[in-house]
Amino acid sequence: MRVGILTAGGDCPGLNAAIRAAARKLLDDGHEPVGLLRGFRGLCDPALRMPLTRSALTGIVQLGGTILQTSSFDPYRDDGGIDRVRTAQQAAPLDAVIAIGGDHTMQIARRLSDDGVAVVGMPKTIDNDVAGTDRTFGADTAVQVATDAIDRLRTTAQSHDRAMVVEVMGRDSGSIAAEAGLASGADLILVPEIESPLDAVVASVAARHVGGKRFSIIVVAEGARLMRSEASGGGPAFLSDRRDEHGFVRFGGVGAALADAIEVRTGIETRATVLGHVQRGGTPVASDRILATRLGLHAAELVASDQTGRMAALRGREITSVPLADTDGLRPVDPAILAAAAIFFS
Ligand code: F6P
Repeated sequence: MRVGILTAGGDCPGLNAAIRAAARKLLDDGHEPVGLLRGFRGLCDPALRMPLTRSALTGIVQLGGTILQTSSFDPYRDDGGIDRVRTAQQAAPLDAVIAIGGDHTMQIARRLSDDGVAVVGMPKTIDNDVAGTDRTFGADTAVQVATDAIDRLRTTAQSHDRAMVVEVMGRDSGSIAAEAGLASGADLILVPEIESPLDAVVASVAARHVGGKRFSIIVVAEGARLMRSEASGGGPAFLSDRRDEHGFVRFGGVGAALADAIEVRTGIETRATVLGHVQRGGTPVASDRILATRLGLHAAELVASDQTGRMAALRGREITSVPLADTDGLRPVDPAILAAAAIFFS
């Protein structure tokens, strides 16, 4: 079988381990893995392909990023995409495709599968918000990076009697905020899944300092929904008006806005730090490499046994698969993690 492998959407640590595992298993079983470059663009254009030979796969398990590059190209949204997929399939047919990506990639994979393309999905994202799997690779590395950063912010906050607002990634998911906040002993965690009244957030920081605490660490997910009071008109307190090239909201900025509100209203000196793409780059931690490898091996097995239209997934400690149809929606932050972290807020 000739099997295309692509990485789509935002990158994350562990992608190369996943590519390596899927392609090595296919090679070992006598198949021909082909790298499709720049996400689904590579499915539309036979010129955007690279052979995944053993030598191409050597020495990449520890590398961040993706040797196949990525993009947010969507054949169902971007000009002539699906016709180009069909034309490319006629010109240089693939027997199956392994699509490695987040929730949006799984939606595209599902539609392609409904349209007759043999596709297997593999979930990845630092946000850990893909439905149908208990964990995505990339998440552990991002949580470790954020935890290390918050540890460093803590010592300087302490030295200066300051409040530190740390903005982490997560446009829809509070997973990084909750896990890194728990691991670093944050004093408050704000996530997109739960609306947080701005007045109450500011009041809780003020109360800590009145109660004798000299510094505070507030971890805020970039998509956190801080709400204005009814008296101030209600609705979101901070809205980003920036859009990416596809018209999606570009997050970022809530941390600075919150820091400003805390400082202005309480007089507590406050600084904001945006961790941004640092969380997505660089070397994957061991657990992400292991998960990516196990999922990659399973994805190759699914393809070779004609079990397409499915996504390789982690359930408990087992690697299994679920129908792509069951990956709709987003996996929310684990309330048990938030509850455990909240015990240490006061
Ligand atoms: O990978 C998902 C994510 O980390 C989101 O949490 C974040 O909003 C987004 O990527 C930002 O990605 P980019 O800046 O590449 O569009």
